[in-house]
Amino acid sequence: MTDFSRSFASLGSIGTALLRLLDPETAHKLTILAVRAGLAPFPAPTPPERLAVRAFGLRFPSPIGLAAGFDKNAEVPAQMLRLGFGFVEVGTITPRPQPGNSRPRIFRLEEDRAVINRLGFNNKGLEAARTRLANRVAAGIVAVNVGANKDSADPVADYATCIRALAPHADLLVLNISSPNTPGLRDLQLGARLDGLLAAAMASRTESHAHPPVLVKIAPDLEEGDVNAIVDAAVSGGADGLVVGNTSVRLREDLRSARRGESGGLSGRPLLRRSTEVLGQAYRAAGGRLTLVGVGGISSGADAYAKIRAGATLVELYTALVYEGPDLVARIQSELAELLARDGCTSVADAVGSQWK
Ligand SMILES: Cc1cc2nc3c(=O)[nH]c(=O)nc-3n(C[C@H](O)[C@H](O)[C@H](O)COP(=O)(O)O)c2cc1C
Repeated sequence: MTDFSRSFASLGSIGTALLRLLDPETAHKLTILAVRAGLAPFPAPTPPERLAVRAFGLRFPSPIGLAAGFDKNAEVPAQMLRLGFGFVEVGTITPRPQPGNSRPRIFRLEEDRAVINRLGFNNKGLEAARTRLANRVAAGIVAVNVGANKDSADPVADYATCIRALAPHADLLVLNISSPNTPGLRDLQLGARLDGLLAAAMASRTESHAHPPVLVKIAPDLEEGDVNAIVDAAVSGGADGLVVGNTSVRLREDLRSARRGESGGLSGRPLLRRSTEVLGQAYRAAGGRLTLVGVGGISSGADAYAKIRAGATLVELYTALVYEGPDLVARIQSELAELLARDGCTSVADAVGSQWK
């Protein structure tokens, strides 16, 4: 480790330890404020060249991205890119601002290295996000994750509204149809509902005169038959990829923390195995027709590598950042580069789906 990366690491861990003394939502607000004010740790070391990925017609300096939910209002994408992420996904953004569910609504499960949240798409709405994204200085790849308002009479129209407004400011668009905290949202994953959503999404993207690739974010709680059906619907509906996946409403049996009974979506370490299984199912069903982003429980280079071997071209994380702080990104990148080199892979692309070959 160089002096530079060591000081980057220690600054990040002190801040993270202090923040963990606060309630999770206050800690998150302070983090966003600090990052906005430029108080984030120094720019991270440049990722090893071996980690560069070409996907969706873009060059990602690293396959390690920040998952949706950290920067819900697109307030700090440039700063998070400077922390070393290869790309950042902002949102979920809904057409109208909404407060989300009542507090408390985020719970740390320390012993399990997990979080349960039932935020319910608290966000400042489309116009606030559009202004910020339109004024952003190009600093890297930003994916924009969109959803529907809780009280929407026509959820599909909400996605279309967001896409029309945000497509010109997005490098990638993600349709979030898998949050467990907006009643009925997950039903959009199934059958004709998904066909209708994708048709509306593609039409509104055309109207926007911008053509960012479209990805669909799915739940880790799906049965294999549903995963196969979603893959086929995504391909025939013109989507470019899947994000696999969101938080889980299951997987509570093995948790040890006092808060394990809270309702909401589970993220972090206990999600790793299941979300990687669903990713592998999607990879095999897609047979190269979609590009996959693997998310759920990543906290090490080995975890990221497991997702890549199961079929992810890119990966994302959120919860591990809460526990480990910003130096985690550089650590995962150097661990992943070492694992690729160990296995004779000159690039990430060499390892994508290698578990099935
Ligand atoms: C506090 C919190 C808020 C989240 N908000 C969103 C969101 O608004 N939209 C979304 O698509 N996913 C959201 N997620 C899910 C993450 O993007 C990710 O899919 C999930 O947490 C699994 O990754 P992880 O185990 O690395 O955290 C949220 C997760 C957490 C912990």
